[in-house]
Amino acid sequence: MVEKARIMVVEDEAVISLEIQERLTKMGHSICGTAASGEEAVAIATAKRPDLILMDVQLRGDQDGVDTAQQIRDQIEIPVIYLTAFADDRTVERARLTEPFGYLIKPFSEKELYAAIETALYKHSMEAKLRESERRYAATVRCIADCVIVTDTEMNITLMNPAAQGVTGWGQAEAVGKKVDEVFKIVDEKELTPVESPLVETIRRRVVTNLATPVLLITKNGEKIPVEDSAAPMIDDRGELTGAVLVFRDITERRNAEAAIKTAFDSLEERVQEQTAELRTSFEKLGRAMEGTIQALATMVEARDRYTAGHQVRVADLACSIARQMGVIESRLPIIRIAGLIHDVGKVCVPTEILNKPAPLSQIEFEIVKQHPKAAFDVLEKIEFPWPVAEIVLQHHERYDGSGYPSGLRGDQIFLEARILGVADVVEAMSSHRPYRAALGIERGLEEIIKGRGTQYDPDVVDACVRVFREEGFKFKEVQVST
Ligand SMILES: [Fe+2]
Ligand SMILES: [Fe+2]
Repeated sequence: MVEKARIMVVEDEAVISLEIQERLTKMGHSICGTAASGEEAVAIATAKRPDLILMDVQLRGDQDGVDTAQQIRDQIEIPVIYLTAFADDRTVERARLTEPFGYLIKPFSEKELYAAIETALYKHSMEAKLRESERRYAATVRCIADCVIVTDTEMNITLMNPAAQGVTGWGQAEAVGKKVDEVFKIVDEKELTPVESPLVETIRRRVVTNLATPVLLITKNGEKIPVEDSAAPMIDDRGELTGAVLVFRDITERRNAEAAIKTAFDSLEERVQEQTAELRTSFEKLGRAMEGTIQALATMVEARDRYTAGHQVRVADLACSIARQMGVIESRLPIIRIAGLIHDVGKVCVPTEILNKPAPLSQIEFEIVKQHPKAAFDVLEKIEFPWPVAEIVLQHHERYDGSGYPSGLRGDQIFLEARILGVADVVEAMSSHRPYRAALGIERGLEEIIKGRGTQYDPDVVDACVRVFREEGFKFKEVQVST
C-alpha cells in the first residue's frame, strides 16, 4: 500500500479534476488543494506545500503546466507528475528539464495512477535522503581541519575543502577540473626533486597510500610548506573505483615546536656537560689533595710496622676487584680504594713491640690491637671526605654474623664496602708473611673465607672473591719490604 500523501491536483478541466480527486481519495490520499491555472497553482503549492503535485500540461491562462512546475521548483522541492493528453517533442523536452517524477498519458487507468504516485513518492524520499547524506558529507569535509582534495579516477579535482584551499593557495572554483598534480605539487624535502603524489599509487592499486618521508608542497605562489600526506581510494557499492581522496596537513608548526624542543635540549645538554666538567675538575683537585693525605697516613703506619708494609695497598686492590666482580657501580670504587689504603691507620696507636711480636699475641695484647679501628675512626672523622670513609674503616673487623668488633654489627648493618674490605683483609693477611708465622698462601686465605661463608663473611662477597682469583686470575702485587 502506498503511503498516505497530501496531493494537489492542477487540472483546468473540472470533470477530469474531480475524477482524479475521487480516485486519489479512494486510494487513501488526501487532496490538499486544486487549481485550474498556473498562477493559482504556484500560490497554493507554496502556501500548502503538498507531498506531490499532479500537473496537467495544458492549463488555462498564459502559463502552461511546465512553466508552473518550474516556478514551483524554483521555490520548493515538490515532486511533480505531468498529466497530458498529447505532447509534442518541444513540450516533452521542456518538461524533462524540470526533472519530473513521472508522466501520465490521458486517459490513464487507476493502476497507472497508483504506480506513478508510488514511484514518485519513493523516488522523492530516496532523493531527499541522498541530498541529506551529501549535505552531511560536504559539511564534514568543509569542517575537517586536515586538507582534503577529492578527485575522479582520472585524477581531476572534484572537490577541495577550505583547509586545502588555504594551504595550497588555490580556490575551489579554479582548482576543480584541473589535474591534481597541477594544484598539489610536491617535492622531496632534501633533494627538492618532484615526488609522485600518493594518489597515483592509490588509483593504480586501489589501496591506501602513505608517503614514507615528509615532502614540501609548492603552493600557488611558490611557497614551500612541509606536509604529510596520504591517499585513499573511493569505492562504490558495486566495488568500482569512483575516485580518490587526498588528505594532507601542514606540519610547519609541529616542525617549529620540534626544533624549539631540540634547541632547548641541546643547550641543556651543553650546560650539563659544562657542569660535569667543572665538577670533574674540582673532584680531581680534591682527589689529588686527598691522595696526598691518604698516602701520608698509609706511610705512617707502614713505617712502624714493616711486616704489614704493602698490606693496605694489596687489600685495596683486592677489595676493588671484588666490588667490580659484584657489579658495584664504578663511582663507588674510589670509596673502597681509599678505605682500603688506610684501613689499618689506627695501628699507630698500637705499640710497635706488639705489632712486630714474633709470637702469637696474649689476650691483653690482642685487646690493644682491637682498638685500631676506633683509633682510625677518631682520626678520619675529622677529615672531610665526601664519603663515609671513617665509618667503613671503623667497621672493617665487624663480621656478617655479629661476631666481629668493635660494635658486633651484623648483616646489612655493616656497610657493603666494609664487608668487602673485611674479606679482602683476611685473604691478604693469611696469604702474606706475619711476624709470628710464614706466609700461608692464597689457597689457605680462600679456604678460610669459604669456611666462614654465610657466617662470618657475606656469602656474596665470598663468592665474588673466589671468582676474582679463580676466574679472573687475580694476583697480589709484590711490594718491597723496607728494612
Ligand atoms: Fe685491621
Ligand atoms: Fe688489615
